[in-house]
Amino acid sequence: MAEVFISPLHNIFSHFRFILTLRSEERKYHGLILFRLSSASSSARYEDEGADQRVDDLENDASGNALNRQIYVMEATCPHLGAEMSHADIEEYEDSVVAVCPWHRYDFDLKTGKSETGLRTCTYTVQIKADPETGEEQVWMEAPQGGRNWRVVELRPVSDEFADPPPESTSSLSANGMATPHAQETTEPVVPEKNPPKTLMEWAVLILNTPNPTLKVERTRYAVHAFRTGAITSVGNRVAHPPVPPAQPPRETYMNIVEPGKIQSGKRKNKAVMLHALANIEQWAIDLAWDIMARFGPMHKDLPPAFFADFSKMALDESKHFSLLRARLIAFSTPYGSLPIHASLWDSATLTSRSLLSRLAIIHLVHEARGLDVNPKTIEKFRKAGDKESVDVLEVIHADEVTHVTAGHRWFVWMCEQQQLRQGGLEVNPVQAFREEVRRCWHGDIKGPFNVEDREKAGLSREFYDDLKGEMSYTDHEENARMTINKTTKSAEISPEETQVEQKQGNTEGPIYTDGIQKALAAVQVTYET
Ligand code: FES
Repeated sequence: MAEVFISPLHNIFSHFRFILTLRSEERKYHGLILFRLSSASSSARYEDEGADQRVDDLENDASGNALNRQIYVMEATCPHLGAEMSHADIEEYEDSVVAVCPWHRYDFDLKTGKSETGLRTCTYTVQIKADPETGEEQVWMEAPQGGRNWRVVELRPVSDEFADPPPESTSSLSANGMATPHAQETTEPVVPEKNPPKTLMEWAVLILNTPNPTLKVERTRYAVHAFRTGAITSVGNRVAHPPVPPAQPPRETYMNIVEPGKIQSGKRKNKAVMLHALANIEQWAIDLAWDIMARFGPMHKDLPPAFFADFSKMALDESKHFSLLRARLIAFSTPYGSLPIHASLWDSATLTSRSLLSRLAIIHLVHEARGLDVNPKTIEKFRKAGDKESVDVLEVIHADEVTHVTAGHRWFVWMCEQQQLRQGGLEVNPVQAFREEVRRCWHGDIKGPFNVEDREKAGLSREFYDDLKGEMSYTDHEENARMTINKTTKSAEISPEETQVEQKQGNTEGPIYTDGIQKALAAVQVTYET
């Protein structure tokens, strides 16, 4: 039986639940949840018993005490209608432990995957083994079918709700993890009293239309938690008239929005200015995560629930990043909003608003991947300045951003697979497709130096980006650009049929840049190369 190394055992003592993503040599992805049922203290006792005893226990899960010592791995989404299982209730019965889906309460045996409804999910045998050379205790799992050389590309806690021991304070989250009724700095409630959103799409559009940065964060926390725990049980992308996202999310009137070039580069050496620029990017990044769901969900009704799980997780991460950076700004007496900001990242969003393939390529595999290249240098600047608190924040952000590029890669590959199916099996190679997107939708070189290691972790091998140059000429495409911008205002209304016609005409798969090229390129520089 092929096996996959998950992690040293001690790494999973920090939390009870982990998001676990695997990728195979053929670029297939597999989303899983790892549940650890024992407390850290009993795990520590357990560690003293030795690896052989643990393997025995894991194989003997029906025996009394073993139930609270086990580690289980199961599919990340429910086989019924695709709910995320990260917040499933765990219930113990005499001879089994089940995960109860938060949406419709079907329960699945953590060992066999069976449900009394007749449905079944995949579960994977877990073993704890001692490394023969170092003696380190390690967690291994049975490899999934349908791929070769699976490896872990993401293992991180579901959230601090499952920290072990629980954190003393959960900031603005109440005990059950829901947002407080009113966000700071605004009297507007997190959940609108009139017409509260009922679906994920409605929440996405509400959050996109929320200019207050604190309220945007609070609403993101609330909506993602509600989606994970079953308070929202519908994505809402298949309804006849889904809500339409704004062409550009509004900002508070007090924010001073300027062109990227107007933010003077010399001042960026100032730590507070750098942190402010990064906080601004995180605000747009929250919007980008909601926008990709709200804009493309209705255009691609076949997108699986895992797509919405990935991008709602991304929205939550970005809101965490913003909050961490805002706290650092307060330490520098420079509140968020006290310095000018730019909206360049949204220019790339606008210009990729008609094609999910283009959006994934340009936002997630060009812009965000560039972030992986430059983040380490930014972290080094703060380290040299002796600012350990900011270094800690930026390291958290960087680790999360690797998983965001991974999500971009995962869904870019998925789109290529769908296109291949539509073409009757005619191969659509993701590397070639990405390079083609960049050639058509970008202007100028994809610049290095590259963080090859972290790009590779995210699925971007060198063949994706080496010697790659965008060939878009904006002067040739002014008319198409106007069409793109006009269409953006009603993009959620573009039907799949219309999209197909436009694709045949060569109009859709590829955003058209005019002055957006310069702004988008400037965004990469200004955004990341602080
Ligand atoms: S029981 Fe899980 S989605 Fe319905």
